[in-house]
Amino acid sequence: MCGIVGLVNGHAVAGDLVTALGRLEYRGYDSAGLAVAGPGFAVRKVVGRPAALGAEFDASFTGRAGIAHTRWATHGRPDARNAHPHLCDGVAVVHNGIIENHAALRASLVAEGHAFASDTDSEVIPHLIAAARARGAAPVAAVQEACAALHGAYAIAVLFEDAPDRVVVARQGSPVTVARGAGASAVASDPAALAGFCAEYAALEDGDIAELRGAEVRIADRNGRVASRDWQSMEAAEVAAEMGAFGSNTRAEIAATPAALRRTNAALAGRTLPAQVAAAERLVMVACGSSLYAASTARAWIEQLSGVPCDLEVASEYRTRAAPIVRGTVAVLVSQSGETADTLAVQAHLRARGVPVVAVVNVPHSQMARTADLVWPTSAGRELGVAATKSFSCQLLALVRFGLALAQARGSATPAALAAVEAELTALPGVCAAAERLEPQLAAIARRVASANEAIFIGRGPAASIAAEGALKLKELSYIRADAYAAGELKHGPIALIHDRSPVIVCGGVNDDKTLSNAEEVRARGAQVIALVEQAAAARFAPVAHDVVALPGSGLGLVFAQAVALQLLAVHAAEALHCDVDRPRNLAKSVTVE
Ligand code: F6R
Repeated sequence: MCGIVGLVNGHAVAGDLVTALGRLEYRGYDSAGLAVAGPGFAVRKVVGRPAALGAEFDASFTGRAGIAHTRWATHGRPDARNAHPHLCDGVAVVHNGIIENHAALRASLVAEGHAFASDTDSEVIPHLIAAARARGAAPVAAVQEACAALHGAYAIAVLFEDAPDRVVVARQGSPVTVARGAGASAVASDPAALAGFCAEYAALEDGDIAELRGAEVRIADRNGRVASRDWQSMEAAEVAAEMGAFGSNTRAEIAATPAALRRTNAALAGRTLPAQVAAAERLVMVACGSSLYAASTARAWIEQLSGVPCDLEVASEYRTRAAPIVRGTVAVLVSQSGETADTLAVQAHLRARGVPVVAVVNVPHSQMARTADLVWPTSAGRELGVAATKSFSCQLLALVRFGLALAQARGSATPAALAAVEAELTALPGVCAAAERLEPQLAAIARRVASANEAIFIGRGPAASIAAEGALKLKELSYIRADAYAAGELKHGPIALIHDRSPVIVCGGVNDDKTLSNAEEVRARGAQVIALVEQAAAARFAPVAHDVVALPGSGLGLVFAQAVALQLLAVHAAEALHCDVDRPRNLAKSVTVE
């Protein structure tokens, strides 16, 4: 959440800062700002997206070092006053994270005579740095001193009016990478923002402070010792799928699902597990949001194939209770970004207790990937749409492949059963491509759903989890209130919600007869049933349903086809309501605050 950028270049940086910041828009987009140094600061702040900063800069913006920020508001309204950079006495700061002790720090700074201009937690940072500088500290030392007073999470980039040739960076708890080469040095929340500006990048560790000058990056660890970090070629920072004629990144990314699944298959087919993981007596899968639904959808296959019981935990909830850890537990953390604060906190908690951690993660340079015992990559490629789409499908595939590898290592499934699953997994790209061809029918249904102000999703077994993911997609993209229930739970209360013409999206799956009965029950109460079922079940659902979407695939394939169909349904409902599909209100792609 929030994206920061800093650049030190051989020429004026303002335009490049806007370009780089635009690539971080997925992290937040309620306001943006930049500052360039020397002589004095030139500052521009806007409400809205980075592009609103504009491309034209007058002579005051000729500085060769600068910082920029795109905001996802935590403290203070999304207005220009609260937009970063925040300034104090020749110090400008952009910040991603949350300063937990900001109120106490602000009170003591105010008592010392400091005046604040915003409602943000971040503004204490330039004040602390300026105070240290006033006491005679050099730029890096002043940042070090200020950081010692901060509690919470931060990645900051700092610009100095009286040292206009550099940017100083510090990290604690929030992701940030530095980059160098090609005559420039830089910093960004995500290295992909810096493609074309530098030759190589490295992720900073907690406690690191880096000084960027010219093409040089000097990194010191929390003890002030020179630190060597893992430098990688900028070519490794993946670029996004082309939006092309699709009109939105999200739609383009759904279309990229078959290719992404092929990559996941290629990366994981035949891959074996280390003995420590294969010996698991119990799995605990931990994740948030769509990643959690991917885990809960895959759970049945993992358990059936491997025979290993598998618990499922919401990361933010798992943190709040001291759950006993059963001996022989292996943790499987699922995250697209590998940056989600709650999931990372669970990772640290479990590793400190000796639990091996498998990270099913999409971003290879993320903190989760760097600190896991085993990385099980989802290989979806870069995803810019805020809502998870192709990454969800790739997580699901990677997790089923994890179950397959576990079964292979433990001998818990017959070779014939393993071969059958392998064949299903290989066929998935084709199944998803076929599901996408149903878009015209789904778009027509979506237009009707868009005219309702609520929707209910039901399913059984894995289809219940897919239903939950479908409801999440609809609410986050179209803002239509959507609830999901295990179909068997309807009669225990939620059926009271059904009234004349309520859209009920029925995800057919295992045990179709029971789901069919549930569809009949809601239909009898006036619901408008939309059935997403396999082709073989279409005729049986036809008398009950207002719409039957006959999907390709069965078993595993059906679940993947349902995921694509539900994503398309949500995109088209959102477009019908003129919502910004790529930038849903109040959301950001990486949830780096707790
Ligand atoms: C929904 C969505 C979110 C994420 C969740 C976890 O479309 O994308 O619910 O799944 O914020 O994020 P990651 O997977 O990055 O840990």
